Amino acid sequence: MKYYVRVPATSANLGPGFDCMGLALDVYNEMSVETGHPFSIEITGESANLLPTTRENAVVQAMEVLFERAGNPAVEREWKLTLENHIPVASGLGSSASAIVGGLLLANELVIEAGGQALSHRELLDLAVELEGHPDNVAPALTGGASLSYVDDHGTHTFAIPVPDNLYFVVAVPYFTLHTEQSRTVVPPTVTRADAVFNIAQASRLTLALCTGNLELLRGGFSDRLHEPYRRSLVPGYDDVRHAALRSGALALTLSGAGPSLLAWCTDEVAAWQVADQMTLSWRENGIPCRTEVYRPCLTQTVAVREDV
Ligand code: HSE
Repeated sequence: MKYYVRVPATSANLGPGFDCMGLALDVYNEMSVETGHPFSIEITGESANLLPTTRENAVVQAMEVLFERAGNPAVEREWKLTLENHIPVASGLGSSASAIVGGLLLANELVIEAGGQALSHRELLDLAVELEGHPDNVAPALTGGASLSYVDDHGTHTFAIPVPDNLYFVVAVPYFTLHTEQSRTVVPPTVTRADAVFNIAQASRLTLALCTGNLELLRGGFSDRLHEPYRRSLVPGYDDVRHAALRSGALALTLSGAGPSLLAWCTDEVAAWQVADQMTLSWRENGIPCRTEVYRPCLTQTVAVREDV
């Protein structure tokens, strides 16, 4: 049997929604698992030469955790795993969330094939959050769209946030990587009341704009005081690229996840490509090559499907 899933890239935080808000974009890592073959992993695309082709691979690790949670049904651990990656690694676009979500969904299909009890959507989300450590990438990677999530004693709670159809996102990916663990070390563990209040206001403003579709509420850019001011130092050129994006017509600019990629929010496609050009230029002027793309939100739920072989 062969199962296929494509998992979207995600941009987490969306500025003031640190660790709780995220958005799926229409660029995907594609994965398939075919049983009845000796174990092998073939990886093509983004960072293919950096990723392990052994059982240490993050997709396989997630699959193993799912088998354990599903009560270890008799799943033969011989398969051909094919990964076609389009999400850059350690760039702030949710590549690790995609590996987790893809691995869990593929493994769930193998559990069903083996006659075991598959995990529910809710259980999959809880497990993905447990593996990733925070919900803001894995929730939209699993459900699509934009979401607001938090974890309490009862598990993960996720709410869909509507995404107005005129939003275009410029993603600028510089040619250096930044691992989330490193980027989290600079974020202070406590904040002042003034900064907390500021962030509540900004996150509410963003939610209001997305829910009402009145993007003018975002004009001038919304901002964050919990993580971006501290992470800026890890992203050379951040201020210049931000100004270039806002000056050339972006509504707002946010660090994508833990960085270093930057996400410019635009309301039409032509403007988005102009913003992309200005961001590329500005980062180049800082001595940092980067690539830019314009993406739309991915609005569909992520599901694994059986393929005929
Ligand atoms: N919320 C996470 C962070 C996203 O900002 O560290 C990156 O994984």
